[in-house]
Amino acid sequence: MVRKPVPDDKFSFGLWTVGWQAADPFGTATRAPLDPVESVHRLAELGAWGVTFHDDDLTPFTVDDAERSTRIARFRRALDETGMTVPMATTNLFQHPVFKDGALTSNDRDVRRFALRKVMRNMDLAAELGAQTYVLWGGREGSETDAAKDVAAAFDRYREGIDTLAQYVVDQGYPLRLALEPKPNEPRGDIFLPTIGHALAFISQLDHHELVGVNPEVGHEQMAGLNVVHGMGQALWQGKLFHIDLNGQKGTRFDQDLVFGHGDLLSAFFLVDLLEYGSTPGGEAGPAYTGPRHFDYKPLRTENTDGVWASAAANMESYLMLKAKAQAFRGDPRVRQAVADAGLDELARPTLAPGETLGDLLSDRSAFEDFDADKAGARGYGFVELSRLAMEHLIG
Ligand code: GCO
Ligand code: MN
Ligand code: MN
Repeated sequence: MVRKPVPDDKFSFGLWTVGWQAADPFGTATRAPLDPVESVHRLAELGAWGVTFHDDDLTPFTVDDAERSTRIARFRRALDETGMTVPMATTNLFQHPVFKDGALTSNDRDVRRFALRKVMRNMDLAAELGAQTYVLWGGREGSETDAAKDVAAAFDRYREGIDTLAQYVVDQGYPLRLALEPKPNEPRGDIFLPTIGHALAFISQLDHHELVGVNPEVGHEQMAGLNVVHGMGQALWQGKLFHIDLNGQKGTRFDQDLVFGHGDLLSAFFLVDLLEYGSTPGGEAGPAYTGPRHFDYKPLRTENTDGVWASAAANMESYLMLKAKAQAFRGDPRVRQAVADAGLDELARPTLAPGETLGDLLSDRSAFEDFDADKAGARGYGFVELSRLAMEHLIG
């Protein structure tokens, strides 16, 4: 139905996604461990372009240097054999008990220093493998009780940590940018930087703010009851959408990490449209998102290995189907008419005229004194017709 994915689509997957053995808080693993080398080969066959990893996905940090080198060499060989890229890497700062009170914001200073070293060590590997983005998801940065954290001190340490890591990147001359990944909760009761907005505000406080952006995840915004199209749209507008985690989620509940599109379908449609065109549907195309289309999902616990690869393919298929729908939607003359009726092109017009001064605005009687607010308030915007057309294109 839809064409096969190709490397130009820039689809990438975390090793931890297809490699998830499906252990959850209530049950043990339902699948055997997956060799990263096999993941690289299988994903390449499916048409993916890149793989991403946590340091520990490749080599647990407890193995010795010789073993670490061997594992990295095997992985490199798989990349060379398949032409797969490593566009992004990240650090596991959440699994080991040492991180139970966080990493960069742990109350324990020695843990914070260990965390910095752990990140820097994997940044070296990320740069060596040609990554452009280094993701920092602070899954354990937070608390369960407000008695446990001095929030201001925690943010001092968070800022210190991110600035230290950014300085490392600068000192080493690595072509890496840092992307913070927001999430409201899970595994901590409350996680610092719970949403895109919190992360963007935090970044403005950094010495190295220009090197730091966000890696929003669809499901994480939806867990907070937020609109991920607006969130990613704002990050894109601010030049801060460095990387993305695509997946599916059904409302405000635990982090489901469903296949992309298998949650809020309409939102997924408008998200793909935003990423591809950088603007609202039918509006003037703005600067689109050019980074990896990265999936951070979990194959359902019910699936065997075949289901793992079927679900990986399903993510890419969802994206390509939605992309085709977005293209058809934009090309539909009825949509273009509805867009005009809805005033979307007018929104692109600056509110003040070119060269207009504040004095001009203040003396423009048509803007206030003679403005017929009742008449303007009686206008219909026709947004329902636009939404209906979107539905028609999607499922009609
Ligand atoms: C989660 C997160 C992680 C991060 C990953 C990269 O909720 O578990 O989304 O999957 O994306 O750790 O830093
Ligand atoms: Mn998630
Ligand atoms: Mn994620």
